[in-house]
Amino acid sequence: MPKLPGAPHHLRVEQLDRPLGLDTAQPRLAWWVHDPRTSARQSAYHVQVATDPAALARGEADAWDTGRVESEQSIHVVYAGEALRPSTRYHWRVRTWDGDGEPSPWSLPAWWETGLNIGQPDPQHALGEAQWIASDLVADEERAAPCPQFRKAFSLEGPIGSARLYITALGLYDAQINGQPATDEALNPGWTDYQTRVTYRTYDVTDLLNTGDNAIGVTLGDGWYAGHIAWAGRQHYGDRPKLNALLRVTLGDGQTVTIPTDTTWRTAAGHVVSADLYMGEHHDRRKATPGWAAPGFDDTAWSRATPCDPPQAAVDAAAYPAIRPVQALTPVAEPTTLDDDGVAVQVFDLGQNMVGRARVTLRGEPGQTARVRFAEMLQADGTLYTDNLRKAKATDYVTFADGEPILFEPSFTFHGFRYVEVSGCAPMSREDVVGVVLCSDLEPTGTFTCSNELVNQLQSNIVWGQRGNFLDVPTDCPQRDERLGWTGDAQVFVRTAAFNMNVGPFFDKWQRDLSDEQQDTGSIPSVAPVVAKGLSKQIQTDGGPAWSDAYIICPWTMYRCFGDTRILEDHYDGMCRFLEYLADTANNHIRTSRDFAGWHGYGDWLATDGVHPWTAPTPRDLIGTAYYAYDLALMVQIAQALAKTDDATRFIALREQVVAAFNRAFVTDDGRVVGDTQTGYLLALGFDLLPEDKRPAALAQLRWLIESRGPALTTGFVGSPLLCPVLSRFGAHDLAYALLLREDYPGWLYSIHQGATTMWERWNSFTHKDGFGPVGMNSFNHYAYGAVGQWMYATVAGLDADPDVPAFKRLVIAPVPHEQVTHAEATLDTPYGQAATSWSLTGTRFTLDATAPANTTAELRLPNGESHDLPAGTHHFEITL
Ligand code: BGC
Repeated sequence: MPKLPGAPHHLRVEQLDRPLGLDTAQPRLAWWVHDPRTSARQSAYHVQVATDPAALARGEADAWDTGRVESEQSIHVVYAGEALRPSTRYHWRVRTWDGDGEPSPWSLPAWWETGLNIGQPDPQHALGEAQWIASDLVADEERAAPCPQFRKAFSLEGPIGSARLYITALGLYDAQINGQPATDEALNPGWTDYQTRVTYRTYDVTDLLNTGDNAIGVTLGDGWYAGHIAWAGRQHYGDRPKLNALLRVTLGDGQTVTIPTDTTWRTAAGHVVSADLYMGEHHDRRKATPGWAAPGFDDTAWSRATPCDPPQAAVDAAAYPAIRPVQALTPVAEPTTLDDDGVAVQVFDLGQNMVGRARVTLRGEPGQTARVRFAEMLQADGTLYTDNLRKAKATDYVTFADGEPILFEPSFTFHGFRYVEVSGCAPMSREDVVGVVLCSDLEPTGTFTCSNELVNQLQSNIVWGQRGNFLDVPTDCPQRDERLGWTGDAQVFVRTAAFNMNVGPFFDKWQRDLSDEQQDTGSIPSVAPVVAKGLSKQIQTDGGPAWSDAYIICPWTMYRCFGDTRILEDHYDGMCRFLEYLADTANNHIRTSRDFAGWHGYGDWLATDGVHPWTAPTPRDLIGTAYYAYDLALMVQIAQALAKTDDATRFIALREQVVAAFNRAFVTDDGRVVGDTQTGYLLALGFDLLPEDKRPAALAQLRWLIESRGPALTTGFVGSPLLCPVLSRFGAHDLAYALLLREDYPGWLYSIHQGATTMWERWNSFTHKDGFGPVGMNSFNHYAYGAVGQWMYATVAGLDADPDVPAFKRLVIAPVPHEQVTHAEATLDTPYGQAATSWSLTGTRFTLDATAPANTTAELRLPNGESHDLPAGTHHFEITL
């Protein structure tokens, strides 16, 4: 064991690893103390920030030098040095002192780089002097137009020092410099409410430029801006995509050259003859213009780009991970060849339902068009099952120019699929197909495994559901004509998501999306971003109980899991306005909605005790009032975290009134909850709405409602996430395990026996016995029921955070063994470092290894009832049960 702490590591800025292009005026720094010794803690730190890395190595910090600061703080240390300048790289390092006052070595240096718009007093509507430009290719509300290509040739005199491309679009961009991709990211700039905000990204393109002749080429796709969204056609924000970019080159002699988008850029259609997120993409290779993004290309026949008015939207630096290819899947076998209505098709199985696109090697005759289709499931005859995609065609086409093989991968679409069907080209083999998995490139943080293989598959399905639906926005599903940022789905899943990946920056972005959509009344819509066309008024304006509450639950979860108080500060006023809306519209503290007669939300959506998704029997005003009280409980903690004590007192008082109203309206004297549904009891118990003396009766009735059915659940999106956590909290671990381990319908393991490799929208979206569920809503990649993941980490593996201490600074290690789950282990990269548990039960012998990272402590609760206070370090326990 070393005697001194090692150098701090895992340096992060705004929770990101070396972010490029950050416009945050006071970014927050974090590091992991490197000290495996028992009781290791940080007693002080010293941060240095410099613009010159060589000077930093000598200890000269021109931007910020904290000196020695006596503090345990190692996360969210707010930068408080010189005002940050735009387009500047800041290098930084840190050292720490341990509990005995012994210093660590300096960390290796890390950096962040500012974007263009830092320190600007007003919102910017463009990147520097860059103009917004477009082409004359305009489609209509039904069909996409060809994707415009834009190019600019330029020359650079003298050696290149460094170069940055700042770029955004209304639509999607795909940028090249001298024929090379500027980035491996995809579907940028993602989806925001473009009327309010559009984000830009920064790329280091130094190595792509040459002294002498250069060219930049950008293709635009319609994306969310002008393409299909939901079930309501195209062109929700504008009729065609637009580009705004600034290339900034610093030459070897320090001179700066900028190449902004303007009307000297030339534009023409290329070989992408149509592209749409839902419909797919068509490349006509006969229209390809080889070399168009490189110098020397003759663009005299191209048009001048059309100037456009800048949008009123603020152009903000994206401070969250972009969508990227994160994994490549290859087919598990050679394709099957089928006759599909007279067409010979080959079907490839990637073995895993995934989201992204297929990269395929195709050969065909000149003028012939190959078709690539996608599906999550196959029909009994082996052909693709696509009914559940509704109006999304999810089909790519390639028209061949010659007999040469083509490596095809679309740029401006994505599909949800496990199966790839190819036709209209020469026969292919499995080597010709790759599934390119796309998702917001969030750092994986958690792992969970246990002795039960079905539960391990469930964990895998949950993570795949998260990967497939965290594409810039947390969506309900990635495949059909929907793919919306449904608030209810996100809030039930957010805690699980925060175990699996560092979702802090991702939810920070989505919280802005929610704020952008907050109505003047204070209400929060059902989805964010909202689109103007085709969605019902309720979807656009008032998500209703368990949906719009995401606006408080998600940022509070970011605070709890990552210690982020800035997200609370930034949205505090909005959250208060949302609460005022609930207070204004409530009827004697019972949550209702003033604006829509009969609109009390989606209810316990898809509950098995309802005939229709809308008709679950748990009363909606009960769900609404329970969530109203829960929001207030969270707002008490939020106000306390922000030292707003008067507000906290106010929320406590209001919550008491709401809880009293809940009890008056929905709870009988003997502890029965109106409706007598599992979900009703789960809300009442889980949100602490019942007086102590009524809890035993409510719990007994909940137990009976579950046990008398199998045991089985009858819950939907609202009740299911609460089942295992609430049962465990009240000591009914046996029943929680029974529900988790149930292999029949309805339950988490049932779909696995039906072949699921992701979470499904319904417990029985497909069954070997009865085939496919109702096509109206039958997604095979819908993460909501994956919300059980948090309980698997917290209770099965026994790794959780103390509810009163943010960011896992204090862990709760409380594993619960079971005769069918005799081993479990989890690791979690917390903001302080990696925590871990691993336990086994052999006969009556229970062994546990648990790690609390340096600078944290843990409360250990052993299954025999013993509890211990643990310091940081790795600890081993053996007990007999
Ligand atoms: C979505 C859900 C969503 C629901 C609202 C569905 O169409 O797919 O996941 O939460 O509508 O009830």
